[in-house]
Amino acid sequence: MATFTERMGPVLLFWLGLCLSGTWAVDKGNFKTCDQSAFCKRQRAITPGESPYRALLETMELTNTKLTLQLINDNNKVRLLLELYRLQGNITRVKINELKPLKPRYEVPDVLIREPPTEPLSLLSQDENGVVLSLGAESQRVIVSARPFRLDIVEGRDVLMSLNSRGLLGFEHLRMRKDTSQADPEADNKEATDPPSQVETTKEEEEKVEDGMWEETFKSHTDSKPNGPSAVSLDFSLPGVEHVYGIPEHADTLKLKTTDSGDPYRLYNLDVFQYELYNPMALYGSVPVMLAHNAQRTTGIFWLNAAETWVDISSNTAGKTVFGKMLDYVQGSSETPQTDVRWISESGIIDVFLMLGPTPREVFSQYASLTGTQAFPPLASLGYHQCRWNYNDQEDVRAVDAGFDEHDIPYDFIWLDIEHTDGKRYFTWDPHKFASPKEMLQGLMDKKRKMVAIVDPHIKVDTNYKIHNEIRSRGFYIKNKDGADYEGWCWPGSAGYPDFTRPDMRAWWAGQFAYDQYEGSMENLYTWNDMNEPSVFNGPEVTMHKDALHGSWEHRDMHNLYGFYVQMATAQGLIERSGGVERPFVLTRAVFAGSQRLGAVWTGDNAAEWDHLKISIPMCLSLGLVGISFCGADVGGFFKSPSSELLVRWYQTGAYQPFFRAHAHLDTPRREPWLFGPENTALIREAVRQRYTFLPYWYQLFYHAYQTGEPVMRPLWVEYPQDPATFALDDEFLLGRDLLVHPVTEEGARGVTAYLPGKDEVWFDIHTFQKHNGVQNLYIPVTMSSIPVFQRGGSIIPRKLRVRRSSACMEDDPYTLYVALDNRRTAEGELYIDDGHTFNFEKREFIHRKFSFTNNVLSSVNLEPDAQFTTKSWVERIIILGASKPSKITLRTADDQENQLEFDFDASMSVLTIRKPGMNAGADWTMTLQ
Ligand code: NOJ
Repeated sequence: MATFTERMGPVLLFWLGLCLSGTWAVDKGNFKTCDQSAFCKRQRAITPGESPYRALLETMELTNTKLTLQLINDNNKVRLLLELYRLQGNITRVKINELKPLKPRYEVPDVLIREPPTEPLSLLSQDENGVVLSLGAESQRVIVSARPFRLDIVEGRDVLMSLNSRGLLGFEHLRMRKDTSQADPEADNKEATDPPSQVETTKEEEEKVEDGMWEETFKSHTDSKPNGPSAVSLDFSLPGVEHVYGIPEHADTLKLKTTDSGDPYRLYNLDVFQYELYNPMALYGSVPVMLAHNAQRTTGIFWLNAAETWVDISSNTAGKTVFGKMLDYVQGSSETPQTDVRWISESGIIDVFLMLGPTPREVFSQYASLTGTQAFPPLASLGYHQCRWNYNDQEDVRAVDAGFDEHDIPYDFIWLDIEHTDGKRYFTWDPHKFASPKEMLQGLMDKKRKMVAIVDPHIKVDTNYKIHNEIRSRGFYIKNKDGADYEGWCWPGSAGYPDFTRPDMRAWWAGQFAYDQYEGSMENLYTWNDMNEPSVFNGPEVTMHKDALHGSWEHRDMHNLYGFYVQMATAQGLIERSGGVERPFVLTRAVFAGSQRLGAVWTGDNAAEWDHLKISIPMCLSLGLVGISFCGADVGGFFKSPSSELLVRWYQTGAYQPFFRAHAHLDTPRREPWLFGPENTALIREAVRQRYTFLPYWYQLFYHAYQTGEPVMRPLWVEYPQDPATFALDDEFLLGRDLLVHPVTEEGARGVTAYLPGKDEVWFDIHTFQKHNGVQNLYIPVTMSSIPVFQRGGSIIPRKLRVRRSSACMEDDPYTLYVALDNRRTAEGELYIDDGHTFNFEKREFIHRKFSFTNNVLSSVNLEPDAQFTTKSWVERIIILGASKPSKITLRTADDQENQLEFDFDASMSVLTIRKPGMNAGADWTMTLQ
């Protein structure tokens, strides 16, 4: 048996290495560049020009809903099968696979919420050069050109998107290994027994065997590639487009950059230690969705492939100055701007959804129709979360919890990191430090607070550990290439990795969250899935070997899906433990397309640096654009220690971002909100309290995201799509349509300049009620207490101003309605209320009201009359911004009672405050200002 040091050696060395590495910088040498990734290098070496692919028009078959057509590669005679579908809601799907692959190629399961419904396709014309099909009702056509093969999607006279117009389609067909130099000992046998390849290469050409096709070495790791080369790639041209977004997760600007002079953006879920900002390196999550936007139209490309993927972006206007563009315009230069992108994946097939908009909202809805919407979270999870690695023991938890009460700061969740377990055995508790977890949880429950404990997917290899024994005996571990259980190093030392791609494994895992299985757990304990890229300390690029096996599939095929499945199984467990009644809350680090359905995500191990605070904005905006709304960054920064100024600014920013959690590395000094002196405590208290006053609005935004797929935190261009000034903002954002946030993210700032969009809009400072017109760049002088936030004139936002210990304590509290009038003296808003934690809203147990102010009448009507719910909350105050002074205000309730209401009017700010109108929040009423 190995000694402790032998077993722990690699982990300790790993961390020692990290800690000694000194200055903050990612060790780039640990991660591949495109040149070091053989398939990326091969595919990127294909340069634009004539494509070898030709469409064989005589093979075309057209049914009502599907076009199929063979493509041939004239160099090697390999045939591909193209399928084209018109999907409901203005989406076109293009699939390309080998016509007769040697063995099946991986097609991503479980991400689409259903087989997408199709719409009719019809043939408009055909000749020897190609075919033209009509796409549904939108006057759209798809032109298939035969020689070389290309696809153009056209609407009216505009080309919306072209595929393979630069001739970069690449499809490495599966083949039998021919070279003998790196001979596979079984190769001869295989050739004798395997079915003949579709490829008749004998005379045509012997295909070139390049390094890295059948085996690839990176640092000390060799990737055996039993299936040989299998990459796919395709180019897309976007005429008229200069701005593309999405493809998270990268620590980069919102507007994606061109990649001609460096590496492509990489999508490969990785645990990157000390990640660097403003570069295209891979991070923990991968969502292969890109949005393209110009003032006329928004479109999207969803590349459904879960293997390692690289995305190149180039543009004919990149690098042109505004002056240069102006000159082009004046000189009548005819070149239209165009962005070209190229997607390259290591294996699988080409399965791409072209989401044709035309508005940002329609693209969100198109993507939601494919992969689902944001899970509707429990209300409490929208409150503040207090985390650190680690809260040491129960006494520590008790003291921190008490600290919040002492300092009058609300919070909803306190978190336990890996040290709470018995030796990094998840689902257990350290017997000394956390000897009576139920007592601890009960203490929190008594205060209407909750806890999150971490459950990572690496399982300690230890025959005294029940979870390990069961996974092993059921054969649920991922296997290495030789068929034995895969083992890697992670927190517990040697660890196995359950095969979450298996439904039976996920069902078993979900069962572990049952109250009688997970000892010490209670209803107010929720879950954090970390390290689920998966992180393997001694694996290639700190992750799993690509030739590890999930049944007959290689890890290579589905790497980017692993974390998605971990969160799926965990969320399922939390749902099941409550008999399907309670909504789960699960935080994940690794994500893929569809992860929005499963819970929340955070941006991993950032640092206590100003630039890391800044990058939290574009990182969460990018995730939101691809459906993942419930995003946050570690408040305060994970590594290093923030100055009190940075910490305060981070709380102020985090209070207006969807997932609001402070977190810190094990080695950092403690930083609970009250440890930085009374002034800073007060500033942090105020930021957190502002968050709590807005919880009704946050909840309504999440309900909306759940219904529509629209992001909660969104770039300004989503609401002002025709205003180019909004296309590349990284320092401000909208929450829904109605709150504009420009947090202070500069050290020592004396002021910020916020862009207020909308030429007909007015914006009200939520603190001073001062009114500002759009469009303008507004300079706002700031002090340490400033959080520049504006409410859009024309909106009504419900808030709860009596902030208490936690969101649950505020359940029955009354509302204050903030009515901000626009230039036409009108406003609209909504209020959504339910029990805050169960799935009963699916049975229509909720209140959904619409407020409107028009012609001096404010009214509340039922938006969804078939829904039923009652609330004790009432409306205690209405504040009308931009108002004039009425002589009297009359409230008329549903039972036709009339009441005169008291009010105050502040003439200097045009603010009308109506006190104690007193209606129930679920009731119908009108209020007339005379
Ligand atoms: C890495 C995570 O990103 C971090 O948040 C966590 O504290 C450590 N793992 C320890 O679990």
